[in-house]
Amino acid sequence: MTAKELRRLYLDFFTQHGHAQTPSSSLIPDNDPSVLFTTAGMHPLVPYLLGEKHPGGKRLCDCQKCLRTDDIDEVGDSCHLTFFEMLGNWSFGDYFKRESIVLSHEFLTKVLKIPQEKISISVFAGEGDIPADEESPAIWESLGYPKERIHAFGKKENFWSMAGAGPCGPDTEIFYDTGKEPCGADCSPACSCGKYIEIWNNVFLEYNRDSEGKVTPLAVKNVDTGLGLERVLCLLNNKETVFETELFAPVLEEISALSGQKYEDNKRTFRIISDHLRAAVFILGDDKAVAPSNVDQGYVLRRLIRRAYRYLSNLNAPDEATVSIAKKIVELYGEDYPELVRNSEFIYEKLEKETKAFRKALAHGLKKAEKFLANLPKGGTLSAEKAFKLYDTFGFPVEFTQELCAERGFGVDMEGFRELFAQHQAKSRQGAAQKFKGGLADSGEMTTKLHTATHLLGAALRRVLGEDVFQRGSNITPERLRFDFSFDRKMTPEEIAETEKIVNDAIAQKLPVNCSEMSVEEARVGGAIGVFGDRYGERVKIYTIEGISNEICGGPHVDNTGELGKFVIKKESASSAGVRRIKAVLE
Ligand code: SER
Repeated sequence: MTAKELRRLYLDFFTQHGHAQTPSSSLIPDNDPSVLFTTAGMHPLVPYLLGEKHPGGKRLCDCQKCLRTDDIDEVGDSCHLTFFEMLGNWSFGDYFKRESIVLSHEFLTKVLKIPQEKISISVFAGEGDIPADEESPAIWESLGYPKERIHAFGKKENFWSMAGAGPCGPDTEIFYDTGKEPCGADCSPACSCGKYIEIWNNVFLEYNRDSEGKVTPLAVKNVDTGLGLERVLCLLNNKETVFETELFAPVLEEISALSGQKYEDNKRTFRIISDHLRAAVFILGDDKAVAPSNVDQGYVLRRLIRRAYRYLSNLNAPDEATVSIAKKIVELYGEDYPELVRNSEFIYEKLEKETKAFRKALAHGLKKAEKFLANLPKGGTLSAEKAFKLYDTFGFPVEFTQELCAERGFGVDMEGFRELFAQHQAKSRQGAAQKFKGGLADSGEMTTKLHTATHLLGAALRRVLGEDVFQRGSNITPERLRFDFSFDRKMTPEEIAETEKIVNDAIAQKLPVNCSEMSVEEARVGGAIGVFGDRYGERVKIYTIEGISNEICGGPHVDNTGELGKFVIKKESASSAGVRRIKAVLE
């Protein structure tokens, strides 16, 4: 079975059972300071799990791009991945335990035809103030699963909650028994020996946990499930690990061709490279246009690329390897995730740049590191300041420094480093917050006018160049506006003239600029543009220029387009791969 077939079978099965299919949300959550990446299918759905009405109804299913970095050091074994796809189905106050379990059972045994005797189950045994889930084991038994294959565990195994506050509840997990010998008398699905592989988690979200950790029952009971696509694909095709499936095999071949080394001799290294670059491609390929940096998602991205690069160097692969491998990954996924194709130039450019930067930094940084280490006593600890210097000046992710030190028997003052790092992040956040105010340097009269002109320009570009054009950045000073947008070639003089004309016509028509407030869903249904991402539940301001533009925005704007004057495009140039930049003024 192919990944494509598996996604299709899953989504078809659940749509046939009344679930509306929704597209994958972005890998980068909006307005959720608690996490950097979408870590589960339920993540973008939290407001609905807390009671808000979803426009798709009470039953949903999707295939969500997810990324988890807590297991990054585990990558290289047979089943851990940073990026993965999660198939999921949800009930918002509709069906609960019985139907959820029956649906999972039917999909696995009837659609995928997994022999029922290969399936083991775990359920919640109850712990602390949360009672045992007695219903789930009874339902599994009624479907023919013997008691000895239904295991009950405490909170650690069978109570699911998000990293921060949010909906939570007991779960029942479904395991595939590989048929391997048990590792001991107490071998069970809770054991990590590899006999049991967790494939599906059905969570019964009946509680909410607040930021202080207090758990209270929810008014409506929901179901949230997640099925790991790569793992299921692996077992359906009798592959030993996820890396032997069609989602990785061509990438491993590429690494082999580039390095002249064999996967069989370097399994861990090949797996780390392919996992990390796949995750990097999906982060770079997201429409949110995250690039490598020293903060937040950009830092995770940097770590992934640099770690992959280092392992590629160990294999003596050439520097171009990162981009060649990325091309293979885009080829593999482009049809199902068109954003990767749309943003492919951005992906390759940033990868190349980061690889080059790191190679340079490595050469300089290693010299500096050698000096630092030469002065350390045997078994000593590298100071936080020095580790931070290597990070800040030479771009060494601290994990890299740690690995380097460990090889020589040294430690790193990680606590001190984290402190310095936190101070550094706080500073850059302040900077980012200022930049972020809608890209406005201030809200004086001229910047306000240029801001409204930016909306007109965005709308005009979509008319002239097509609906695929969307904003990638904006910066406004009292003198000029700067607007970055997705487009992959130079605009012709005719297109520039046409764009100017549309904007100036809208100015000549003296159109009112109206502002209204609504929920993100209402805005979406109303056809507004803007970054929707997963800002569900939030109320947003929409600025409308009748017949021209309808956009989510914080303002401020002029009251009427007639106030703007004459709009002139001064320059159109490349910003980065796949992104063009316009500078324009009002005269
Ligand atoms: N949210 C649950 C999980 O991540 C089910 O998808 O396991």
